[in-house]
Amino acid sequence: MLKIQNLSVYYGDREVLKNIGLEVKSGEVVALIGPNGAGKSTLIRAVSGVIPIRRGQIRVNGTDLTTLAPIQRARHISVVPQAVSLPPAFTVWETVLLGRTPYLNFLGQTSSRDEELTRRSLEQVDVLHLAESRMNEISGGEQQRVLLARALAQDTPILIMDEPTAHLDLRHQLDLLKLISKQAREKNLTVMIALHDLNLASLFADRIAIIEGGQLCMAGSPKETLTTEILRSVYKVPVHVIQHPESHVPLILPGLGD
Ligand SMILES: Nc1ncnc2c1ncn2[C@@H]1O[C@H](COP(=O)(O)OP(=O)(O)O)[C@@H](O)[C@H]1O
Ligand SMILES: [Mg+2]
Repeated sequence: MLKIQNLSVYYGDREVLKNIGLEVKSGEVVALIGPNGAGKSTLIRAVSGVIPIRRGQIRVNGTDLTTLAPIQRARHISVVPQAVSLPPAFTVWETVLLGRTPYLNFLGQTSSRDEELTRRSLEQVDVLHLAESRMNEISGGEQQRVLLARALAQDTPILIMDEPTAHLDLRHQLDLLKLISKQAREKNLTVMIALHDLNLASLFADRIAIIEGGQLCMAGSPKETLTTEILRSVYKVPVHVIQHPESHVPLILPGLGD
């Protein structure tokens, strides 16, 4: 379980995240939504430890992450960041094998288990055929899937992703989110994922957390959070909410207004 309490983050003098409290249970997928600049990526960066927090706590199954060294933290949390600069000369295989870094022995040797997890993760996100390609020779969508494979190979109880579907076509968006919700169920993985697309959030998240102006505005099921009133107030546009014909979750259509 991931437990964020009273979290405040500053960029310089500016308080960008204000007193955020959010719990994500084991096996649960929580989507972070909210307008551009709301603080979703900042929350993800704070939880992943790449920016310092000013106040508050981040706990994983009781352990305070802020007290851990990066290598220990990497055994608890894997992160797929929004934009990463990858060494272009690395192959896909080498990039995913990097996910095993927190577990290598002091000589930095990989074991057959490391290789097996790397192979399985590549297979799961449908890029095993690209294993020998260099990272700068594959498409943005393929790079995104390789980064997910790296996070899966890291084999942590918590998985955090920042807009992982941004470069993906429809099939790969669905495949990725289906894979993630399946992993959450089967491996009791705790998943927090910033999503731009409200309809994908509605279809795949157990709960949705709305971030607005650096604060947690509300968290609840898609039905509770994705209402015309709430979305109009958060995004400042008229919307229509209809029901998905199969799963009955809310779907959002932009209104045309006047
Ligand atoms: N490195 C940075 N330095 C200063 N301000 C930043 C930095 N990164 C983001 N911000 C600001 O913090 C706020 C939240 O940004 P961000 O977390 O990226 O929002 P979101 O991911 O929800 O679009 C925005 O106002 C943004 O301009
Ligand atoms: Mg962002």
